[in-house]
Amino acid sequence: MPENLLKGKVGIITGALDENSIAWKTALKVKEQGGRFVLTNAPIAMRMGAIKELAEECNTIVIPADATVVEDIEKLYAEAKEFLGGNFDFLLHSIGMSPNIRKGRSYGDLNYEWAMKSYDVSAISFHKMMHVAEKMDIMNEWASIIGLSYIAAQRVYPFYTDMADAKALLESIARGYGYRFGKLKKVRVNTISQSPTKTTAGTGIGGFDSFFNFAEALSPLGNASAESCADYIVTMFSDLTRMVTMQNLFHDGGYSFTGISEEIMEQFKDL
Ligand SMILES: NC(=O)c1ccc[n+]([C@@H]2O[C@H](COP(=O)([O-])OP(=O)(O)OC[C@H]3O[C@@H](n4cnc5c(N)ncnc54)[C@H](O)[C@@H]3O)[C@@H](O)[C@H]2O)c1
Repeated sequence: MPENLLKGKVGIITGALDENSIAWKTALKVKEQGGRFVLTNAPIAMRMGAIKELAEECNTIVIPADATVVEDIEKLYAEAKEFLGGNFDFLLHSIGMSPNIRKGRSYGDLNYEWAMKSYDVSAISFHKMMHVAEKMDIMNEWASIIGLSYIAAQRVYPFYTDMADAKALLESIARGYGYRFGKLKKVRVNTISQSPTKTTAGTGIGGFDSFFNFAEALSPLGNASAESCADYIVTMFSDLTRMVTMQNLFHDGGYSFTGISEEIMEQFKDL
C-alpha cells in the first residue's frame, strides 16, 4: 500500500451517516493517507448518526450544514478553513436522498415538490458547494472535487425513479463546473459511478437486493465495496490523477461494459 498520498492536503467530507456510508470509509482512508478534513452532514443526521465518534477517531470536528442551504455552506467553509488553517485541496459530495423513493412513489406518480427536493439534495447541492467555493475562493490550485453517482444516470433502473434524473443532473454539473473551475483555478471535478452498495441510501431503494445480486453476477470483478470506493476517492484526491477532470468514472467491477455473464446465462438456460 502506498503511504501518505494525501500528506499536507486538507478538505471537507460530507455524508458520513454511519459506518456503512461511503463517506465514513473515505474519512478513515483519507486519514490513513495523511489528509486532514472537517466532517459535515445535515443537522438532522447528527441526531441519528454516530458521526461524532468518527470525528474523534479522525481528530477532527463536525460542522452541521444542510447542503441545500447556501448560507450553511458558507458558514461550513469559513469555520472549516479556520480549523484546518488554510484553503481546501479536496471536497467530497456524498449526498443523496429522494422523498419519492422513501415514500414508495413510482416514476409515473411522482410528487413534484418531493422531486424538486430530490434534485436539490442529490444534485443541485453539488453546484451550490462549488459555487460557494468559487465565490469564497477557497480551493487551492489542483484541488479535486468528487461527487458520487450511479449508472441509472445512463440506463433505466425502474425503481430508481427520480434519483436517476438527479444523478444525470449531478454528472452534468460535474462537467459544467469542471470546465469552469479548471479554467479558473485548475481545480478538477469528477463523479464516481459506484456499484450498488449496502448503505442507508442504497438499501432504501425498492428491489435493492435484486439489483445488488444481479450486478454481482454480471460484473467480472463482482460489486465494488464502499471501502474500495474510498480507495478510489483517495487516488482521485491525490496528485497522481491531476489531469483527470469532467469525467464520470465507473467504479463497478466492470459492470457497465458487460453485456452478459456465464452466471446469468446459466439462470436463463431452461426457460
Ligand atoms: N449505496 C449505493 O448503492 C450507491 C451507489 C451509487 C452511488 N451512491 C451515492 O453515494 C452517495 C453516498 O451515499 P451512501 O450510499 O454512502 O449512503 P448514506 O445514506 O450513508 O449517505 C447519504 C448521506 O446524505 C446525507 N444527506 C441527505 N440529505 C442531506 C442534506 N440536505 N445535506 C447534507 N447531507 C445530506 C445523509 O445524511 C447521509 O449521510 C450518495 O450520493 C449516493 O446516491 C450510492
